[in-house]
Amino acid sequence: MKWTATKIKALKGERNIAMLTAYDALTGSLVDDADIPMVLVGDSLGMTVLGYETMLQVDMDEMLHHTKAVARGVKSSLVIADMPFMSYQPSIEMGIRNAGRFLKEASADAVKIEGGALRSELIEALVGNGIPVLGHIGLTPQSIKVMDGYRVQGKTSEQARQLMDDAMAVEQAGAFALVLECVPAKLGKLISSALKIPVIGIGAGAGCDGQVLVFTDLLGMSGKPLPKFVKKYADLNPLIKEALSAYKAEVESGAYPTDEQSY
Ligand code: KIV
Repeated sequence: MKWTATKIKALKGERNIAMLTAYDALTGSLVDDADIPMVLVGDSLGMTVLGYETMLQVDMDEMLHHTKAVARGVKSSLVIADMPFMSYQPSIEMGIRNAGRFLKEASADAVKIEGGALRSELIEALVGNGIPVLGHIGLTPQSIKVMDGYRVQGKTSEQARQLMDDAMAVEQAGAFALVLECVPAKLGKLISSALKIPVIGIGAGAGCDGQVLVFTDLLGMSGKPLPKFVKKYADLNPLIKEALSAYKAEVESGAYPTDEQSY
């Protein structure tokens, strides 16, 4: 069964929803094989696999290239392409054209857009033109320069009210679900209870309708310090390093290959 935005929306209140990022056909197929309903080709790929300092450097060509690869590896999960910085901010028309490219050229099923009430008009236009939208509010990494770094959002009652208004605006505009990043757990629960669409938390507590994590964080691949909200389900970095060192040592000593690996 192929997941659609409508089927994801219908999961609200039925069961919690798992979502994970992926960046190529291999990681996409691993997420798909695990029966995870939503796979996000996040612009986090800038830092996780492209070696950029932030995701602000990621462009449309890179996102299209990686979304195509993920879509080739996925059979059932809903493939969501993250719209990169400055691919939708300048105008509604630009947003529609670029979002359309993800569906038309890269076989994505939906796009993700950062921002609340500010993006209502764009979300409405995208959905009206046949493009399912996943909203994203709270800590929005594309605004990291004005947010002054990666900080928990919605800590004051005024900020919390603003986030609730933003969440309502995204729902009203027609998004099928909403990512809520880095807010106090109490606010995560409050917003999830107030909305009719699923709220997918990342650092937003257990009261959300689902959770999303970054593929390489969940598997402990980077060896770098991770945010508090990440749970490492494996610690692959030392295992990979150990395997690579063993390979190097065996090539240098002549222990690899043996007759077993020879024709
Ligand atoms: O880019 C990304 O991976 C994301 C998720 C962490 C929500 O936006």
